[in-house]
Amino acid sequence: MSNQIFAEEILKGRVAFVTGGGTGITGGVARALAEAGAAVTLVSRKMEHLEPTAQRLRDAGLRALPVAADVRNPEDVERALAATVQHFGKVDIVVNGAAGNFLCAAEELSPNGFGTVVDIDLKGTFNVCRAAFAELKKNRGQILNISATLHYLGTPMQLHVSAAKAGVDALTRNLAVEWGRHGIRVNAIAPGPIGDTEGMKRLVPEPIKEKLRQRIPLGRFGEIADIEKAAVFLCSEAASYINGTVLVVDGGHWLAANKLL
Ligand code: COA
Repeated sequence: MSNQIFAEEILKGRVAFVTGGGTGITGGVARALAEAGAAVTLVSRKMEHLEPTAQRLRDAGLRALPVAADVRNPEDVERALAATVQHFGKVDIVVNGAAGNFLCAAEELSPNGFGTVVDIDLKGTFNVCRAAFAELKKNRGQILNISATLHYLGTPMQLHVSAAKAGVDALTRNLAVEWGRHGIRVNAIAPGPIGDTEGMKRLVPEPIKEKLRQRIPLGRFGEIADIEKAAVFLCSEAASYINGTVLVVDGGHWLAANKLL
């Protein structure tokens, strides 16, 4: 976040474990948490996605640890969490951002294609929450899941992701209820169309982009920085009584499906 919106070091002393933290929206969230004073573990499948981000953070004097792990593999997840505890001493923020996506018509989607996205987005989120529970309970920590708005209505070519993210929302609410008694807050952010992402480049065909922009009540695409600010807020004490919320950060986009151009 280029301009200072929150009090300096609002997350000082915290340790965040961020999956999908090397690139895109979650890469931005990881950097924002680090800039807000947290030590951050960046987790994704490929070390080559993580190293440059971790190095940039370290060059800026921030604390970052890259760990390669596939959230689909519970043993990988356990190992990455253990490495974080060994390196930073604890984990008290978990951000589940690892996700897979591609455009595919429902009738052309293979069982493995559907299952792969559910495995990464939904089961991966469960794997990380489950493995982090003991640490989060000890530290009265919290979970922030990255969801989507795709499943609020019907989004063509996105059946697999919509189903997975609907599950992520259910998991968010259930864990908020079950783990709230341990002082663990569980929330999610549902980003709308964010302009400066790989997903937008790859998943939204150029001719549709301008039409899409015109449908957004605030008249612009979101920026990764918009999600970063929401994430820092939800992870901070400013959100101390917010539990089980899916915070939509989309400029009003999904509500405007019937908006006349
Ligand atoms: N259209 C249809 N099916 C697709 C597909 C596409 N564009 N991409 C992958 N699949 C299917 C594969 O065909 C395969 O099913 P099959 O065995 O029946 O053929 C299944 O999904 C698994 O694909 P595979 O590439 O083996 O899995 P993976 O674990 O290596 O990677 C993804 C899965 C989703 C991560 C991969 O598609 C990917 O790398 N996507 C780009 C990165 C990304 O999604 N980032 C998030 C941005 S929002």
